[in-house]
Amino acid sequence: MSLKLTWYGHSAFSLDISGTKLLIDPFLTNNPLAPISADKAEADYILLTHAHGDHLGDTVAIALRTKATVIGVVEVANWIRKQGIDNVQAQAIGSKQSLPFGTVEFVRADHGSSFPDGTDGGKAVGIVIEAEGKRLYFAGDTTLFPEMSLIGALGLDLACIPIGGNYTMGPEDALTAINLLHPKAVFPIHYNTFAEIYQDPSTWALRVNNETSAQAIIVDPGSSFSI
Ligand code: NI
Ligand code: MN
Repeated sequence: MSLKLTWYGHSAFSLDISGTKLLIDPFLTNNPLAPISADKAEADYILLTHAHGDHLGDTVAIALRTKATVIGVVEVANWIRKQGIDNVQAQAIGSKQSLPFGTVEFVRADHGSSFPDGTDGGKAVGIVIEAEGKRLYFAGDTTLFPEMSLIGALGLDLACIPIGGNYTMGPEDALTAINLLHPKAVFPIHYNTFAEIYQDPSTWALRVNNETSAQAIIVDPGSSFSI
């Protein structure tokens, strides 16, 4: 069994679990790396790490069109409901819920969270998804923090972590993060979308492969890979 991921640039992914489609942080409009427009995105679930515009993205439009279930912390869920979306589930940081495709756990992230209109978005989170025997970690926006070793303790088949710096940890801290998480594979996110977060992923991938036990995966936005 394998899980198919498609990267839409920045922190945005489509994750296909035996035909169930999850969208994570669907920032497409105004994302210069996005390979598709919001009206082409497919979703059964939309998972949000936090409320910042480059993660909330096109959630409202996609949820209205697809009737996807939106999952976020309670402040995010309340704001989404106010936009006229009924299929919303609030989940607290530190909790794990079972869904038809597997489990979703919200874990620590060290980062702010406010909506583009200024509404407080509660705590930013990372997301751990277990499905079909695989365990995947989507860090969202975060600094390095020592409890990443606990997130990795149960084993990770993939960790998607930011390397862009400026708003999140940069490439050096991301290497330290890998040595705490010990994932089998690592995928860099949150880089090269804007000038402030320019990084060279190939150079970083070489360091990952030389300095950690993980294998770096790099693809262009719009490309898919399987785990
Ligand atoms: Ni952010
Ligand atoms: Mn961000």
